Amino acid sequence: MSPQKKLQGWYQIHKRDLPFRKKKQAYPIWVSEVMLQQTRVNAMLPLYDSFMKRFPTPESLASAEEEEVLSYWKGLGYYSRARNLRKAAIFLVQNYNGSFPKDLNLVLKLPGVGNYTARAILSIAYDLPLAVLDGNVKRVLSRYFGYTENILGSKADTDLQQKADDFLNKDHPGDHNQAMMELGATLCLPESPKCLLCPLTDSCYARIHQKTGEIPLRVKEKKQIQLSAEILVFDFKDKILLVKEPKMRFLKEMFHLPYGFIGEIPEETYEPTSFFLALKELFPSLLALGKFKHTITHHKMEFSVLRQSLKERTQVETLAKNFGVESKWVQLSSLDREFPSSLASKVKKFLLY
Ligand code: ADE
Repeated sequence: MSPQKKLQGWYQIHKRDLPFRKKKQAYPIWVSEVMLQQTRVNAMLPLYDSFMKRFPTPESLASAEEEEVLSYWKGLGYYSRARNLRKAAIFLVQNYNGSFPKDLNLVLKLPGVGNYTARAILSIAYDLPLAVLDGNVKRVLSRYFGYTENILGSKADTDLQQKADDFLNKDHPGDHNQAMMELGATLCLPESPKCLLCPLTDSCYARIHQKTGEIPLRVKEKKQIQLSAEILVFDFKDKILLVKEPKMRFLKEMFHLPYGFIGEIPEETYEPTSFFLALKELFPSLLALGKFKHTITHHKMEFSVLRQSLKERTQVETLAKNFGVESKWVQLSSLDREFPSSLASKVKKFLLY
């Protein structure tokens, strides 16, 4: 028997008797899926019942005041989810007579409806062949297929969605998706999975290789840091100023164009240097040439290029000296060599027209 069939057989016997599983209707399924994104099944059931009594149809939700809808969301938190639910109900009533379109791209346009929710609704209510991926499903799939890469990494969702699509039972997409989630919630647990009871045990990579402790691998990637910066081009005749500042967070080992972080500074190490601030003060009306994006490891930066043509060079040289900063002048044509960073070529594009 195929693993999909075994899973389907297991689900028919072990599925929980839940109110939103009684009928294949998009609206109750949608409400339940949104609630289940933030709460476990047992905790959401009483709230689900009272919500559905008060708002049994998209029309009733669409015509209610926002405040009342929010009052039925108490205990769930994330009130933007309730606001979006109401907004989406209004949209459905106005555009689709209150029913859900049977098309992934149209459903994805609804406020608050992302890939998971859209696929869950369309597969469970309409049996469209769309596989879902949530935290539980990712664990089941990575163990089953022996996916040993970090499931919190940027590539994992693409890789695992592909596996979920391939593994989908096209005869019963809704049941299959719910069975995968149910398996993750009840047997394929993060710790001490109950492999003896699992319908997929015979062909599960992690069970066969005794790797359920190692798979899935979960390594939190470093938090992305957003930074805004200014990078300064001072030109004198046909030469450009480069500096070397030992105190800088980046590029401190090489001569570079003077730069500093501006706006919201997330940590002290990103503070602009006194030299940079003094330069800005000395030249308050630099010419803005444009912006570009630049990434260094987990730092996502946006640089503004500012330019000043100088009539004489001693003023900046003296300033640099006073701040213990080395300086030199280089030809634009040799900028890439003197300042060997992709930053140099990005800046150069603004200087060549
Ligand atoms: N978790 C979220 N939605 C679910 C569903 N429909 N079945 C089982 N677990 C779920």
